[in-house]
Amino acid sequence: MLPIDRAEGVYLYDTDGNRYIDAIASWYTSVYGHCNPYITEKVHAQMNKLDQVVFSGFTHRPAIELAERLLQILPGNQQKIFYSDNGSTATEIGIKMALQYHHNQGRKRAVLLAFENAFHGDTFGSMSVSGLSVYNGPFEDWLIEVERLPVPNDSNIDEVIHLLKNLLSEKEVAGFIYEPLIQGAAAMKMYKADHLNMILKLCRDQGVLTIADEVMTGFGKTGTNFASDQVPTKPDICCLSKALTAGLMPMGATSCTEEVYQAFYSDEISKGLFHGHTYTANPLACTAAMAGIDLLTSAEIQKNIEDILESHRLFDQRIRNHVNVSNTRQCGIIYALDLNTNMERYGKQRDKLFQHFMSAGVFLRPLGNTIYIHPPYIISSDDLNTVYDTIETAIEYN
Ligand SMILES: Cc1ncc(COP(=O)(O)O)c(C=O)c1O
Repeated sequence: MLPIDRAEGVYLYDTDGNRYIDAIASWYTSVYGHCNPYITEKVHAQMNKLDQVVFSGFTHRPAIELAERLLQILPGNQQKIFYSDNGSTATEIGIKMALQYHHNQGRKRAVLLAFENAFHGDTFGSMSVSGLSVYNGPFEDWLIEVERLPVPNDSNIDEVIHLLKNLLSEKEVAGFIYEPLIQGAAAMKMYKADHLNMILKLCRDQGVLTIADEVMTGFGKTGTNFASDQVPTKPDICCLSKALTAGLMPMGATSCTEEVYQAFYSDEISKGLFHGHTYTANPLACTAAMAGIDLLTSAEIQKNIEDILESHRLFDQRIRNHVNVSNTRQCGIIYALDLNTNMERYGKQRDKLFQHFMSAGVFLRPLGNTIYIHPPYIISSDDLNTVYDTIETAIEYN
């Protein structure tokens, strides 16, 4: 365990004073840089006004304003926001919304649909729909019933659609949860918007609620505010966290359409969605999120995102034909490559690669033989070039 002492901009500093470029934005959160003064000043002011209050029977301005701001940038069909406090609870709530949506209308639909190798979090609902057994294996016997679809590609799309049609006719499917365009924990596996759209349309036709887990992809990562912006069929529910608060505070939010909301809005108390955490809609987290949206929508950050997209493209040309590289891919500011070698996800060879990066002052976190970059939007071209050069050395000596 490396003790980290402080962070500023794109840099992390350990307790010995060593500096590391945070090339994965601390698990896709600190996209505007660490301890960004624009955000910390806003949160500081809020701290002196209202720090925390029960979000049951009470509300407050930061929560109301943030909901309005989120609805301005989310896909147009999203109408309501449900707050929580991390990514797993954002998806857990999305899953509960889908199950209870049908239950409230007297339908028994208890099966969920998810992609193979998905990752949606560590609570029981989100573990159920996650397909990576390394995280959820010991709990298998207690999980919700889930049917899995292979991630679509040009070769298997017909097969996937055939399987989906069968599942939809045989099973009582309540909802389909998916990481739009890119599966992070599955080693940045990317797939086409067209293929996803075909799946979403079929789900929609069968009254299956679609749940976009935008926990990783949200807030500019894929080159648009949300990955769902690139898919014509919009989700019924969106799950948000990570860059939502720019890495400053833990927070989750789950948005839904008016139609989903109406299935819960009733004088019968049992129709309500009873899911409340102590820190739900914490005013400081809401304030950090609003400051993050200010930055995301600024011309400067939009230009930075464009520049990173172009830099990645040029880097790709440099390395994609290297004999030690078996695949490269890019989705927005996320760039990934596979080394042409077999490597365990958590093994000695992978650790050696990690140490190579750290000793060069670059924090990258390979997933097996996949090296990926998720730079903060504010990274300078010099620092981004250092990241690329360090990766190129790793490829050379692999
Ligand atoms: C797509 C996706 N969903 C959900 C989660 C869970 O978020 P958290 O770690 O905040 O619980 C993650 C975390 O990596 C994620 O990538």
